[in-house]
Amino acid sequence: MKRSIIITGGAGFIGSHVVRLFVNKYPEYRILCLDSLTYAGNLANLKDIEDKPNFRFVKMDICDFDSVLALMQEEKVDGVIHLAAESHVDRSIKDPFTFAKTNVLGTLSMLQAARLWWESLPEKYEGKRFYHISTDEVYGALEMTHPEGVKPPFSTRASSDHHLAYGEVFFTEDMKYQPHSPYSAAKASSDHFVRAFHDTYGLPTIVTNCSNNYGPYQFPEKLIPLFINNIRHRKPLPVYGKGENVRDWLYVEDHARAIDVIFHKGKVAETYNIGGFNEWKNIDVIKVLINTVDRLLGRPEGADIDLITFVTDRAGHDLRYAIDSRKLQKELGWEPSLQFEEGIEKTVRWYLDNQEWMDNVTSGDYQKYYDEMYKGR
Ligand code: NAD
Ligand code: TYD
Repeated sequence: MKRSIIITGGAGFIGSHVVRLFVNKYPEYRILCLDSLTYAGNLANLKDIEDKPNFRFVKMDICDFDSVLALMQEEKVDGVIHLAAESHVDRSIKDPFTFAKTNVLGTLSMLQAARLWWESLPEKYEGKRFYHISTDEVYGALEMTHPEGVKPPFSTRASSDHHLAYGEVFFTEDMKYQPHSPYSAAKASSDHFVRAFHDTYGLPTIVTNCSNNYGPYQFPEKLIPLFINNIRHRKPLPVYGKGENVRDWLYVEDHARAIDVIFHKGKVAETYNIGGFNEWKNIDVIKVLINTVDRLLGRPEGADIDLITFVTDRAGHDLRYAIDSRKLQKELGWEPSLQFEEGIEKTVRWYLDNQEWMDNVTSGDYQKYYDEMYKGR
């Protein structure tokens, strides 16, 4: 095998797309999917590649330092793509300790294991890479200086034709970290540990901070899959506050493609922001979702608009996220491939066509998959 790469969190939403891309695109690589299968990990997300010869699933907790180090030694790992994390802001508000443990201590465990394993080799860090996947939420919230929206200064293929910018300032790589939620505080802390391992030990690290992802296999606690499922079943859509908060949306496969480019061509010690210049107010995303689900189910478009239910706002709810990804575009030539409306249409179709996946996730049945398919393998 040309390379041996651990992808942590590979049974989750984004991780499963990264694992799929690497397993299919690089048959000469050994891809080790390391995941402890929390509620967010689902092996059904990897069903189409589970029998590929270059794929191995390892049920392991990233906090279990001894086991992680032993796996790196056994598999002669030369690359780590680290996605495993607790990822939902609402859960972090209820249970911040779990977020500190997984996102901070888990990342530290991965870093320390990679460091000790690579330092034990004659060639040390040569040809090695530790790539940490982070979020734009570490930068905090941007102001909404244009609440009605203005023509954006930049655009990409992901930008909708109806795309507006809601402020002049965008997240750039040199921006100060100002996390507000326990989730983003824990991710910020893990980013600092990654950079400290580069500066202190010379570990060949890269950090990327991406905007909100959407697409197939996302756990239906996040806005887009939750609302698609609720519209389908005509259940209320709980919109926090007035629905005025702005998020910058990127199709998950475009994030996975960026991770591929950056893992192979990114410069050590650098940070890259990943996003598609695609800001949307939540209420406008929700209207697109309602129209798309209605149309694809043969209902009159907008028939389900009354499902919108304004509820108490999220505590500390960040007002606006907007990524400036020009560095990545200029230096490494990455561009998103899908426009927002195309991505939403694909996503809605996927959830409607994969009702069984959704039913297994909402009933909890997906958690039996490991026992049925993997135990004793
Ligand atoms: P997810 O919640 O869907 O998946 C997380 C995965 O990590 C799950 O498979 C879970 O089982 C695994 N995991 C959790 N704790 C673990 C532990 N202790 N040991 C091993 N595995 C563990 O998350 P996601 O949305 O796919 O996000 C993946 C990464 O990308 C996270 O680091 C997140 O911060 C980052 N990110 C997410 C978004 C987004 O919009 N979803 C945007 C930018 C960055
Ligand atoms: P979410 O998908 O949880 O991602 P994040 O909080 O990481 O941005 O939420 C996206 C936006 O949608 C966010 O502004 C909160 C809002 N939201 C709702 O209004 N209602 C909901 O039920 C959820 C889950 C989110």
